Amino acid sequence: MYSISILLIYALVAEVFRRCCVILLGAFTGPLSKIPGPMIGKFTSWPWIIQCVKGNQMNIGPRLFKKYGDIVRVGPADIIFRDKATIQKILIDDDFRKSRDYESAREDPNVTSLITETDKVKYKQKRRLLSPGFSITYLNGLEPLMHECLQAFTKVLDARCKDEGGCATVDMNRVLGNLTSDVMSAASFGGSFNLVESDDNTQKNIFTSYLKRVALDAQFPFIKYLPGVPLASSLISGLVEDIVSKRRKEIEEGIMKKDILQIFIDTNNADPVSFTDKHIRAEMILFMIAGSDTTSLTATFTLLLLLNNQEKLKELISEIDSTFPSLEDTITFAKTQDLPYLNSVINESMRIMPIVTAGIVRLVPETTILCGFEVPKDTIVSAWINEMQRDSRIWPDPDTFIPERWLGDYKGVSADRKAFLPFSAGSRNCIGQQFALKELRLILATLIRRYELSLVQGQSHELRVHTVPWFKQGFYKVRVKVRT
Ligand code: HEM
Repeated sequence: MYSISILLIYALVAEVFRRCCVILLGAFTGPLSKIPGPMIGKFTSWPWIIQCVKGNQMNIGPRLFKKYGDIVRVGPADIIFRDKATIQKILIDDDFRKSRDYESAREDPNVTSLITETDKVKYKQKRRLLSPGFSITYLNGLEPLMHECLQAFTKVLDARCKDEGGCATVDMNRVLGNLTSDVMSAASFGGSFNLVESDDNTQKNIFTSYLKRVALDAQFPFIKYLPGVPLASSLISGLVEDIVSKRRKEIEEGIMKKDILQIFIDTNNADPVSFTDKHIRAEMILFMIAGSDTTSLTATFTLLLLLNNQEKLKELISEIDSTFPSLEDTITFAKTQDLPYLNSVINESMRIMPIVTAGIVRLVPETTILCGFEVPKDTIVSAWINEMQRDSRIWPDPDTFIPERWLGDYKGVSADRKAFLPFSAGSRNCIGQQFALKELRLILATLIRRYELSLVQGQSHELRVHTVPWFKQGFYKVRVKVRT
């Protein structure tokens, strides 16, 4: 007779043996075995996951594509893609649902936000609810408010120039982050955070820590259940709760606002069971982050590219100066909307330095053919739009900043808009795209018209990514002088 413990040991060994066989079979005989990639990826996703957590995936991915081609296996059921046809299929034609990474990023599995909802029907309801907050009429109504934030911004920059003897050295990444946070809070939550004036970095640090935690939670969902480990939102919830309670008090006093926060509060009032206070908090955190860092980084990257390509900067200055001849001219949505060179500069910047620097992750719903390979149900597939946007088969001189390619043919090739998806695409594209473009045009036109901007030499452009990228050195400095 065997004792129970010996039987348990046999069972354990048998299970380990079974798992090893499954991994080996999957590695060398399964449908994914034909997909090229590093040998280790056939057995485990761990090296890839570690790079995600370190924020270094954006540097490793391109090297893998260079070595293995358009499709690379980075884990037993984890594939990355860069070719246009597959990206089009994943995001638009077949509109694959979001992967489990988004579910893991929720801190309460039952509380979804617009970005973490993976159920297509529930997602549609959420998106419909928010659409009034992104209608063209509503967005146009935000113009005075954006002007107010920009006025505060130029006042602060002017004062810094004066204090520093006429020419200030400014961390553009930081001041633009302050500005877009103020615009977002003023437009969506009924009051600016006034970060432009206070330059208080506490909130920014909270957001950065929050994003790092979310990246960790997405890979290791169990972490949030460990005793003594606070939830990611504990970093940010005080701020959010203050805003919500202030708004509830205003409603009691009869002050009514028509913004995104009001949509959340009305939904909660109408159905407090399925849209709880936790849902309000999750949505607000999403909007605070999705609506500020994305735009400020895009503006910073655009300035970085312009400053490193002086001819293009001169061309843009000339377009903006002829549209706004006097320093006192008001820079408006209407006038910036159709400026060809400004729009080309923004497009080219988002092509070459998009804020999505790693793949957009989806789950294969049923066995399908991708890039000529059979890919089974439940495989995680990532659409690397940043790599597609630098594909030399689509973009001549792909790594060079050439706004002119958006104005007409460049080297006989016209810009392929289907291979340009900085706001993602399909049903889960960016809801804030028009908001962001309007804001970007105002910010860039204001900066270019009002200031002489010059390069601070020798700065690193190295980035890391946790949901959105950040400069590894922690800043991007630009010299700023008021134009006369
Ligand atoms: C230049 C600025 C921006 C860029 C490049 C950008 C890009 C993107 C991308 C690529 C996604 C898809 C992410 C994914 O599938 O995981 C996304 C989603 C989203 N963006 Fe933006 N975004 C910008 C500005 C904004 C602004 C200003 C707002 C809000 C006012 C916003 C709100 C959102 C929201 C709520 C989502 C989630 C949508 C969903 O999952 O359905 N974004 N954005």
